[in-house]
Amino acid sequence: MKEKLKELRENAIKQIKESENLDKLNEARVTFLGKKGELTAMLKSMKDLSEEERPIFGQLVNETREAIEKLIDETKKNLENKELMYKLEKEEIDVTLPGKKIKVGAKHPCSLALEEVERIFGGMGYEIVEGPEIEKDYYNFEALNIPANHPAKDEQDTFYINSDIVLRTQTSPVQIRTMETRPLPLRMISPGRVFRSDEIDATHSPSFHQIEGLIVDKNVTLADLKGTLELFAKELFGADTKVKFRPHHFPFTEPSAEMDVSCFKCHGKGCRFCKGSGWIEILGCGMVHPNVLRMCNIDPDEYSAFAFGVGLERIALLKYEIDDLRLLYENDDRFLKQFK
Ligand code: DAH
Repeated sequence: MKEKLKELRENAIKQIKESENLDKLNEARVTFLGKKGELTAMLKSMKDLSEEERPIFGQLVNETREAIEKLIDETKKNLENKELMYKLEKEEIDVTLPGKKIKVGAKHPCSLALEEVERIFGGMGYEIVEGPEIEKDYYNFEALNIPANHPAKDEQDTFYINSDIVLRTQTSPVQIRTMETRPLPLRMISPGRVFRSDEIDATHSPSFHQIEGLIVDKNVTLADLKGTLELFAKELFGADTKVKFRPHHFPFTEPSAEMDVSCFKCHGKGCRFCKGSGWIEILGCGMVHPNVLRMCNIDPDEYSAFAFGVGLERIALLKYEIDDLRLLYENDDRFLKQFK
């Protein structure tokens, strides 16, 4: 049996040394040390030995096992090292290769237009405030003097979350939130996303952006409104831009108006851009309704205010002569990169 054990040990050493990878090494381990392996079989056959021979042989078997285990461990380390070296060599990175070009994006036309608007009003001392897109019915309608039966509250226009909460249909609720919380006098613009249940086409989208503007102070007049918005138009569309105010109706302003700018394409002669009229409508505005001021605990006899709301996409479309609103939302690289 000693002979057999010696033979086993030699075979094991040979097979382990010849293992060229970790799988082969594992095979060798199973063959010799595994539950059904040769060494285990030998241990089992010890029962045929005499009492005296048994411990001596047992010791020999243990020695053999230890030797084989040691060799397996060493070989394993070597093989792992070898594999690592091989990988490192194979996966070598050639740092002299030219890098992949990272595409540099361009600012979205809406962002450009917004920056422009913020620059203009920032220069006139207006601060930028934000309000929530998910808004209370109270702020979106009620506090803006829009009574419960107003057509704008029709479910066709408004996305309701529940009877009290809506996706804001306009940025005007930020007026209310600002007047409720900020000390007077105040000047603010509030850009942000608004939502209306509209089908998508060249001029409509269920989600778009507005910029709200508000000034509250003593002795703010319609002349201030006109002067401010005229300056805004000239800064935005060019110094030779003319403006025209048409009477309009908004529940939260009195009087209310829409402002048109002279067509910057044909300078008022009439073209495809202004649909032949020479004028382009760009915003809604007015003197804040006394009811609205009162709802914000502001005394309309002491303070007055004007407000305006302008569509950001509309400005971007006009400024960059884009004829389809959908282009602004598709993020087609070929379109966007023109605005670099
Ligand atoms: N909120 C109006 C809209 O969505 C726009 C507007 C008009 C805002 C007049 C104003 C304003 O602040 O005074 O159509």
